[in-house]
Amino acid sequence: MSVDWNALQSAAVQVRARAYAPYSKFSVGAALLGDDGRIFTGCNVENASYGLCVCAERNAVFAAVAAGVRTFHAIAIVSSAQEPVTPCGACRQVLAEFAPSFEVRCYGNDGTEKQYTTASLLPHAFSDEALRTKP
Ligand code: THU
Repeated sequence: MSVDWNALQSAAVQVRARAYAPYSKFSVGAALLGDDGRIFTGCNVENASYGLCVCAERNAVFAAVAAGVRTFHAIAIVSSAQEPVTPCGACRQVLAEFAPSFEVRCYGNDGTEKQYTTASLLPHAFSDEALRTKP
């Protein structure tokens, strides 16, 4: 499947505007391309109980899974920072759950772009393979 990165980036920019980030003032938007061609988006949602904050990337993945999509081709991530930011460790683990590896592009607010894959962002990820290992 060819990836329309402009469409993904612009979906991420649009959803970033909906971020609920009154504590960090750091807004993030993510747009995930599913294997059925649909784009699923997520923004970060914070909470007065800080540990409950959920990142944009995980919210995008969870929206896709709730819509019945579990295979992904690409994710675009934008934030309020000038430099592109990469997903946090928790989000890398959640992205790694969905094999095979797919492309990740991170954009700074000036459009600067960095390219990764889910596998390159989290080598040696914990996976269901370990759960199948007999004691
Ligand atoms: N955040 C994301 O949504 N994605 C990232 O890749 C890094 C961090 C959010 C979590 C929190 O709401 C705010 O950014 C500051 O950490």
